[in-house]
Amino acid sequence: MSYENILTRSEGRVGVIQFNRPKALNALSPALMGETMAALEAFDKDEEVGAIVITGSARAFAAGADIKEMAHASVVDMLGNPFIDYWDRLRRVSKPVVAAVSGFALGGGCELALACDLIVASETAQFGQPEINLGVIPGAGGTQRMTRAVGKALAMEIVLNDRRLTAVEALHYGLVNRVVPVELYLEEAIKLAQAIAERAPVAVRLAKEAINAVYEMPLQAGLAHERRLFYMLFATADQKEGMDAFVNKRPANWQGK
Ligand code: CAA
Repeated sequence: MSYENILTRSEGRVGVIQFNRPKALNALSPALMGETMAALEAFDKDEEVGAIVITGSARAFAAGADIKEMAHASVVDMLGNPFIDYWDRLRRVSKPVVAAVSGFALGGGCELALACDLIVASETAQFGQPEINLGVIPGAGGTQRMTRAVGKALAMEIVLNDRRLTAVEALHYGLVNRVVPVELYLEEAIKLAQAIAERAPVAVRLAKEAINAVYEMPLQAGLAHERRLFYMLFATADQKEGMDAFVNKRPANWQGK
């Protein structure tokens, strides 16, 4: 499938989606988000793909939702527009999604990175929720995911007063997995995604589901959910293969079944 606002490719078992609106610093227009979702869902269905990387350019992961396209919207336009649902649909992708972030990750761009499962950041990455400068607030999870990630005190500064986090600060607060030189961030993200993509696919998928459930469930319900997923894996060929490979001191050959 060909796209106008993104580029896609596969590297090994990794599907790569790259935002391609450099003149607008990869502002997330409805068209770009629609294409991104279509590409994500296609990779999610593709058995040759085990993990997905989303990235922008070295200068900008994404500078937020497209302000020019939103500027004259009414509340009714916003209510009738499925645009922000794309961030929720990203959460429903079953394979791990790694954000490779360099430069600006602002507003909806920051929220998109936070909705991914892992983040590899370049040293120049900058995370922020500057919506307050536009007379609005984050609308795609910024007040919720950012607060869970960095705590209330800092989230208040970020959302109320446009405090930006450097890559090193983001690492300190556990927002990102690692910070690497700008020339390496995409390569590192693909390497990380590839390493995960080589593991037992059904277990990876259920592990992601169990960890993300932390944000949705109280502890007891989360523990019960985890246990059910754990037991479920005993119905897979990969569980038999993984344990047999361990016992017989050989590498496992995963089938994803
Ligand atoms: N939407 C539309 N266009 C944008 C954009 C955005 N979010 N961010 C940047 N651009 C455009 C600029 O308008 C400019 O276009 P022109 O050349 O046609 O004027 C081009 O990208 C380059 O931007 P700048 O000239 O501003 O570049 P800079 O280096 O001086 O500044 C920046 C970079 C600090 C990122 C600045 O562009 C900026 O502040 N952008 C807006 C960031 C923002 O407020 N994001 C939140 C959006 S709202 C949102 O995301 C809601 C939500 O929660 C879903």
